[in-house]
Amino acid sequence: MADCRICKSKTVRVMDFGKMPIANGFLEKPTGSEFFFDLVFVFCPTCFMAQLENTVKPEMMFNEHYHFISSTSKAMQEHFRKTAEAIIESASGKNDFLAVELGCNDGIMLRHVAAAGIKHVGIEPSSNVAQLARRNGVTVEECFFNRQTALEIAQKYGKADVICGANVMCHIEDINSVFEGVDALLKDDGALFFEDPYLGDIVRKSSFDQIYDEHVYYYSGLSVAELAKRHGLKLVDMQAQNVHGGSMRYYIEKGAARAVNTRVEKYLSEEKALGLDRIEGYARFKESVDRICQDLKSTLMRLKAEGKRIAGYGATSKSTTVLNYAQIGPEILDYISDITPTKIDKFTPGMHIPVKAYGNFLNDNVPYTLLLAWNHKEEILKKEDAYRKNGGKFITYFPKVSIE
Ligand code: TYD
Repeated sequence: MADCRICKSKTVRVMDFGKMPIANGFLEKPTGSEFFFDLVFVFCPTCFMAQLENTVKPEMMFNEHYHFISSTSKAMQEHFRKTAEAIIESASGKNDFLAVELGCNDGIMLRHVAAAGIKHVGIEPSSNVAQLARRNGVTVEECFFNRQTALEIAQKYGKADVICGANVMCHIEDINSVFEGVDALLKDDGALFFEDPYLGDIVRKSSFDQIYDEHVYYYSGLSVAELAKRHGLKLVDMQAQNVHGGSMRYYIEKGAARAVNTRVEKYLSEEKALGLDRIEGYARFKESVDRICQDLKSTLMRLKAEGKRIAGYGATSKSTTVLNYAQIGPEILDYISDITPTKIDKFTPGMHIPVKAYGNFLNDNVPYTLLLAWNHKEEILKKEDAYRKNGGKFITYFPKVSIE
């Protein structure tokens, strides 16, 4: 049993996915050596943190070849524009306001803050996306955020009113050091807010595809409250976000300056009712994941046996877990369509399915499409209305396999 990264107690294994490749490790060629690691999902009964047992070195995931570009979805652009608006509003009337974003990616959020003339800095270790952010007018520091770099940022830019991060806190193994950095960089009346895929949604929907190398932690209100308390900080609000298949935004402050919103108690009670505070709460998770994978594989095999062609839609990081765990390869999916330029004409990690430009999908009229980017379902179904009107069908798999 591995030790919990937060509180050093013994963790308990929830599910072993076996050998998995790096989720964003797209290959130039479908042959040659590839890195695999043991993907094991564990839970700490002491501080309630769900996490990976083993991790991959950050440099292997977040480097100049990093394939995740935030601004590929309209819904995400709108989501981050609203986040920026809230920051711009809180900066109003303050002269020395500073906003810091951890993992600013291509500047999808901070570009609006920059355009409003507000002092800001984005922290981004992946040099290719940091470059995109700079082109979007964002001030970027290319580094990993920890206590040391936080002190350097405080020295260079002053202390922060707001520190925020979206889909980044779950990536950072030494999260204790990040919280130390937050404590060092935040003004006394400042606030940290961050959002990540929500453990409550993962367990409720069995959406196990959130579990992959980059996601070290699977946060809940229970675990974030504990984590904050350990660093002298306080969880003061939680707000559900309708992105990434179900995310939660956590608001954390230094003192008890702001009263705790009643939503926090509501979410914590719901989480306890779901069993997220004890290992028994995860008992049915593996069973349910295996059932979904079996149903999905048999549905796809049945369609293939009927001579139907099937494509994938969205070469997401998430799909690496689904495709590899359910063993869905190029003999089932002809290709996966994706709009991200750096993924096109590459091969998916582990299963080596070719990734093709969106144009291929548009010209193909393939009868069935596996919606791997299911978190963008609403946007994609709207966009692919003509495909469906022509008889094309999408296959989805959470919370159960369905064809529509
Ligand atoms: P994303 O939602 O960021 O998921 P993950 O974090 O698991 O990678 O990925 C969405 C992927 O789907 C991305 O590669 C872009 C692609 N995509 C399309 O190809 N077409 C679309 O219309 C949308 C919305 C996304």
